Amino acid sequence: MTKVRLEGVYKIFGEQPRGRALELAREGASKTDIQTWTDHVVGLADVNFDVAEGEIFVVMGLSGSGKSTAIRTVNKLHSVTTGHVWVDDVDIQSLSGKALQAVRREKMGMVFQHFALFPHHNVISNVAYGLEVQGVDRRERERAALEALSLVGLQAYATSMPGQLSGGMQQRVGLARALASDPDILLMDEAFSALDPLIRRQMQDEMMDIQKKLRKTILFITHDLNEALRIGDRVCIMRGGRVVQIGTPEEILTKPATGYVAEFVQDVDQGRVIMVSDVMVEPQPVDRSATLSDAVRAVSDRAGAFVVDDVGRPVAVLTVADGLRSIEMGSNSLGDALRSDFATAGARQTLNEVYASAGRGLPIAVVDDDGRLVGNLDPRHIMEELGRVESLIDEFEREVFL
Ligand SMILES: Nc1ncnc2c1ncn2[C@@H]1O[C@H](COP(=O)(O)OP(=O)(O)O)[C@@H](O)[C@H]1O
Ligand SMILES: [Mg+2]
Repeated sequence: MTKVRLEGVYKIFGEQPRGRALELAREGASKTDIQTWTDHVVGLADVNFDVAEGEIFVVMGLSGSGKSTAIRTVNKLHSVTTGHVWVDDVDIQSLSGKALQAVRREKMGMVFQHFALFPHHNVISNVAYGLEVQGVDRRERERAALEALSLVGLQAYATSMPGQLSGGMQQRVGLARALASDPDILLMDEAFSALDPLIRRQMQDEMMDIQKKLRKTILFITHDLNEALRIGDRVCIMRGGRVVQIGTPEEILTKPATGYVAEFVQDVDQGRVIMVSDVMVEPQPVDRSATLSDAVRAVSDRAGAFVVDDVGRPVAVLTVADGLRSIEMGSNSLGDALRSDFATAGARQTLNEVYASAGRGLPIAVVDDDGRLVGNLDPRHIMEELGRVESLIDEFEREVFL
């Protein structure tokens, strides 16, 4: 179900937003040209996207591309020049006064890069602030604030002052504040951009954990494609106020719509977004009753095959090299050739996460939550997959730049 929808949205900044600049934008003129010709700034030009309920939708683009302008049309911090912004089935842009405030308070939580906490209020009263404004009584709002703080792992700091917390922790308080009123929609504008890379990754992980529990609809803005691809269910790339491409991280990486996107994609660490499940093959475990030579033959051209126990959990691996060595030494018993020092991975992990385990050349056992074998991940396939994406990007570059 669609939760937020921008439909044909234009936002022009200047004296006469509905004049010549809008006309030119409609005809497809670029932001730079419109600025030169009319002295008006294009914030958004024909922006269309849907954010589905429960989705993390990331808007990504360079500084000035219109990301903040876009998110601000959703809570109507900006009025659009033309177009519609739907939140559920309400045209948010048609609201004002109390009705607008009510929708903002009840449905939306906001986290911004410089989302200042009140320095003289302790953490819990900062988190409870929004509820206080809504007139929620003290006990109830402190209960909700504590619950939100526990989601971000900071309940122990409830009575600390913001100044006593690190930047990352303050940003988590900001997230808790947005979550405290249990909004359907989270609007996050460069929420992690000021954090150093390591803390930032932790925040991304935490947010994704929280999202697994809460299933909010999240509109997340960033100028960092890595961040976008890492956390987004879908990513919308903007340039000069226009949408250049909307797709899943995998689509953005493997099918960049334009040279512009391809250029961005070059900087991305590919393995981060390709899933183990995209590359693994059918497990086809070893038949435990087979002779060693039959078992080796069955491994065929795979890096190896796993032996599973009675409930399907991998217990050992057979590689062709190990098998042939045992046969050479005169054995035809499967047990002599097996090894148990294999690595395991989850199907939802990224190639980047399992890359190190592939270094030994052994297949990786892909297991489900109960430890049962669901796939066989061949180190060569990991390399091929990473290589395939690289060559795709090379192709795009050649097409675009040569
Ligand atoms: N209030 C404003 N008045 C005039 N121009 C603005 C205003 N807000 C944003 N802009 C311009 O609109 C464009 C998009 O800005 P913004 O949405 O803030 O970009 P981003 O968040 O992607 O960095 C920029 O060129 C910016 O200078
Ligand atoms: Mg911005």
